[in-house]
Amino acid sequence: MVNSIVLPKIMQIGANSLDLLPETLVSLGCSFPCVITDKTMLELGYVAKVEALLNQQNINFGLFTDTMPEPNDTSILAAVEMVKTKQYDCLIALGGGSAIDSAKAIALLASHGGKMSDYKVPYQVTEISLPVVAIPTTAGTGSEATKVTVISDSATDEKMLCMGSGLIPAAAIIDYQFTLSLPSRIAADTGIDALTHAIEAYVSRKANLFSDQQAIAAMKLIAPNLIKVCQQPDNLKAKEAMMLGATLAGIAFSNASVGLVHGMSRPIGVHFHVPHGLSNAMLLPTITEYSLPGAPRKYAECAMHMGLVTVIDDQTLAHQTLINELKHINQTLNVPTLAEFGVVKTEYEGLLTNMAEQALASGSPGNNPKIPVLNEIIELYKKVWL
Ligand SMILES: [Fe+2]
Repeated sequence: MVNSIVLPKIMQIGANSLDLLPETLVSLGCSFPCVITDKTMLELGYVAKVEALLNQQNINFGLFTDTMPEPNDTSILAAVEMVKTKQYDCLIALGGGSAIDSAKAIALLASHGGKMSDYKVPYQVTEISLPVVAIPTTAGTGSEATKVTVISDSATDEKMLCMGSGLIPAAAIIDYQFTLSLPSRIAADTGIDALTHAIEAYVSRKANLFSDQQAIAAMKLIAPNLIKVCQQPDNLKAKEAMMLGATLAGIAFSNASVGLVHGMSRPIGVHFHVPHGLSNAMLLPTITEYSLPGAPRKYAECAMHMGLVTVIDDQTLAHQTLINELKHINQTLNVPTLAEFGVVKTEYEGLLTNMAEQALASGSPGNNPKIPVLNEIIELYKKVWL
């Protein structure tokens, strides 16, 4: 069996790797970038850092600061027009997963036209677009190393999953120092997203020997550091480990797919505006418990790779330890319930079938070790409310 692995061409990893941005552009043959980012990056002074590096090397560039959290197909249009008109030769995506996902979509539409719904799964994006240099500022989505972007359809409120080798960033600059000023809520939500990527990739039906190694390494880096990075924001070792863990988890799921947690998470996000990592966190313990019978050995190994058990003498005990830890993480990091987040129960109940249909349509539940039918997903949504 052959596994086709897709990775960025260049990855600069470590403290001050941002300094290598100009030479990374040269390596890619790019000289006229457009920085794609958001207002928070502007306020934090991160955009100024990038501008200073480009100015030092007399590199002309454009700047688009209007990407939005959980981007949709209309939020990227102004940037698409700007990139086409000014004829930039690459994009620098600076920010969390939303900024990087936006940049991937902007590069695709500016290079090939059409609308994002043309490119959603099962379509495979193999078109070669403007190169994207991704600079993540959270340790979470792993978007800097994935061939995936998630853009909502503003007409139907569907979170569209778009995948394919054409969406892999050409380069990633992974400098954990950007995460030092992350608010603890965002560190928690994005961190649990990364842990979810590692676990879902490891138990995925599309997992392979390569993706397993990335997922194992990611679990080993993320599990002991997730709570630390939220409670000890100055813990550099934990921040560095978490950042690399998130990238490796991204590589793992990009080459093995995510599963039911992500499939059910996107509809919650789009209907109730729950941030992606947070809706994953709300689902993770319940969905993991449901999925255990589909891959009992691999879930037990997750408990071992996360450092929760040293050996797997007793699979059931390893499973229980894993579920308890996922609940403990949520409790410690103050993950709210759907009700505590402000979701209205009657609205949630009214959308159960719709959300379950959207979850199935994304294809992600089909990668889950235990594949649910529509009614099971509805029941799981109900269980998550309790
Ligand atoms: Fe995710």
